[in-house]
Amino acid sequence: MSTIDSAEEPGYTNSYLGDQHAGQLMRLRTLERAFDPLSRTVFGLLPLPDKPAILDLGAGAGSFAGWLSKRYPDATVIATDIDTRFLTDIPGIRVLTHNAATDDFPAASFDVVHVRALLCHLSEREDILNKATTWVRPGGWLVIEDVSLRPSLRAANPLFRKVALAGFTLLEQSIGSDMLWADVLPDRLRERGLSFIGHRTLEGRIGDDSPADAFWASTTAQAGPTLLKLGLLTQDDLDAMARLRASSTFTEAALTFISAWGQVPERG
Ligand SMILES: C[S@@+](CC[C@H](N)C(=O)[O-])C[C@H]1O[C@@H](n2cnc3c(N)ncnc32)[C@H](O)[C@@H]1O
Repeated sequence: MSTIDSAEEPGYTNSYLGDQHAGQLMRLRTLERAFDPLSRTVFGLLPLPDKPAILDLGAGAGSFAGWLSKRYPDATVIATDIDTRFLTDIPGIRVLTHNAATDDFPAASFDVVHVRALLCHLSEREDILNKATTWVRPGGWLVIEDVSLRPSLRAANPLFRKVALAGFTLLEQSIGSDMLWADVLPDRLRERGLSFIGHRTLEGRIGDDSPADAFWASTTAQAGPTLLKLGLLTQDDLDAMARLRASSTFTEAALTFISAWGQVPERG
C-alpha cells in the first residue's frame, strides 16, 4: 500500500474531492438533494428578524444559499467559498471568495451563520467554529451541519464495511477529514456558550436509490482512482461493491446527516 506523498499537502481543495474534478458539480448536487430537506426544516424552526443577514460559509454549488434568498426575500445572503466557480448565476445572493481557515469577518456581522459539510474536512475545524461564533450577533443563530460516517463503519455486510473503511481512511489521510466529528455537534455548540441548542439527524442509506445513496455512489466513484492508487481497495473490490449496491436485496445505513444549532446569548 502506498502512502500519501508528504510533499502533497493534504487538504480538501487539492484532493480528489476538489472542485476541479469533472464530476464535482454533479457530486455536490447529490449532496444538496440529500441534505437540503433537513437544512430547510431546521431554518423553519429558527425565529429570524425581518431582514436577516445570513452567511452560508463554504456554500459549494449554492442550492441552499439560493433557497435562503427565496425563502427570506428581504435578507442579505452572503455565500462564500474558497472556490466560487459553482456560485455564479444564483439570483439574490452575494458571493465572496473566502478561506474559512485563514479569513475572518467582523464580530457580530450576521443574524445566522450556516456551515454545512465543510468543517469535517478542515483540520482547523475547532478554530473556525470559535471564529464563526463571534460572527453571529447576540440573539442570532449558528447552524452547523455535517456528515458522520459512523453507520457505515458498523455495517453488517463485510464488503460494504471494507469499502467504507477504505473511504474513511482516504478522507483522513488525503484531506485530514474527521468523519466522526459531527457525532457530538450539540456538545460542541454548548461548550461555546450557545443556548437553546437543538439538533436533528437524518439517516442516509446505500442501496435504496435515495438521494443519500446517489451521494455515496458519486463520492465513491470520484474516490475510486485514489483508492486504487493507494492500494486501499482493488478493482475487484470496487466491482463487487457496485454489484452489491445494485442488488435488490441489499440496503444498509451508510451515513448520518447531522444538523445542530444554537443561539448566541444576548449581552447582559
Ligand atoms: C462538501 S462541499 C459542501 C458545500 C455546501 N456547503 C453544501 O453543503 O452543499 C465543501 C465546500 O467547501 C469548500 N471549501 C473547502 N475548503 C474551504 C475553505 N478553507 N474555506 C472555504 N470553503 C472551503 C469547497 O470548495 C466546497 O465547495
